[in-house]
Amino acid sequence: PNNEGSSAESHIDDLVSKLPPKEGLVLYKNYWLWPQTAKNIMLLQDIFKPRHDDIILATNPKCGTTWLKALAFTITTRHRYNFHDHPLLTHHPQEVVPFLEIPTNEDLSYVETLPSPRLVSTHMPMSLLPGSIASHGCRIVYICREPKDAFVSLWHFLKRIHGGHAPDLDSMFNRFCEGSLPSGPFWNHCLEYWKESIASPDRILFLKYEDMMSDPVRYAKKLALFLGVPFTGEEEEDGVHEQVVRLCSFEMLSGLEANRAGNLKLRPRPNVVYEKSAFFRRGKVGDWVNYMSEEMGRKLDYIMEEKLKGSGLVL
Ligand code: A3P
Repeated sequence: PNNEGSSAESHIDDLVSKLPPKEGLVLYKNYWLWPQTAKNIMLLQDIFKPRHDDIILATNPKCGTTWLKALAFTITTRHRYNFHDHPLLTHHPQEVVPFLEIPTNEDLSYVETLPSPRLVSTHMPMSLLPGSIASHGCRIVYICREPKDAFVSLWHFLKRIHGGHAPDLDSMFNRFCEGSLPSGPFWNHCLEYWKESIASPDRILFLKYEDMMSDPVRYAKKLALFLGVPFTGEEEEDGVHEQVVRLCSFEMLSGLEANRAGNLKLRPRPNVVYEKSAFFRRGKVGDWVNYMSEEMGRKLDYIMEEKLKGSGLVL
């Protein structure tokens, strides 16, 4: 074992143990994180060596990460694969694009072994990304979602992964409103990327789940253009952009055996396993009405309005 590495790690363990705790999370630089995630984020500051052609997919949990991974992967590798034997027919979207801070084993440095151009994802807020990312000009795609739907999706997901031990909807809702669920506050996470996308539109593309649901072909084209691989006129004539959208659709992906059975190798924290199917639930806009009262809806709308006031961002 590398002594320097392990002493850095024990120093980080020490830092994490001193962070303010709440309900199993810790507060690190104004964000609530699982202790393991806080540790990984600190370790990544040194481990992750950005390259100018890296593409980073950033999201708040349950805002469309899986969909964005599928789309960005299919778009950027479309000259390599056919649609009839495409990797996404046999691999979960979470398997083809790795998470920076959620490794598949103990080794966070896995991303350093990937060939360029790398496509990676993260739930890290902008202010916690390894500092060197900004200076390397890596492109970032952020996807945001209507918070009531994102909350309901998160509640279902945590229920799935924690079985009977998940908190009830009301207490989780209160924590969402306080900003103290993982990667929260939700609004600050969105706002940081939003502001940066206005300041540097060539570097950060800010997308919304609902916009993409209403016109996925338009947004697939926008994404391809932003990633520097626009669909050519010939490709559009051949309907390649439409094929990409069809392959990455909820209906298509959620029906594939590769996404229905078994567990992902992702190890977010000890004793937590992600079932592949947990990433595909309903894939609808407005599903919150089936779980939250109107009053809860109004309360969260009010909080969001207040928090986003003056930013130009409407969710
Ligand atoms: P619901 O729980 O509302 O169904 P993430 O990928 O960030 O974890 O987000 C998961 C949410 O995205 C879930 O929302 C899931 O069903 C939805 N989703 C997964 N794949 C999708 C796709 N291809 N198109 C649209 N939504 C998708």
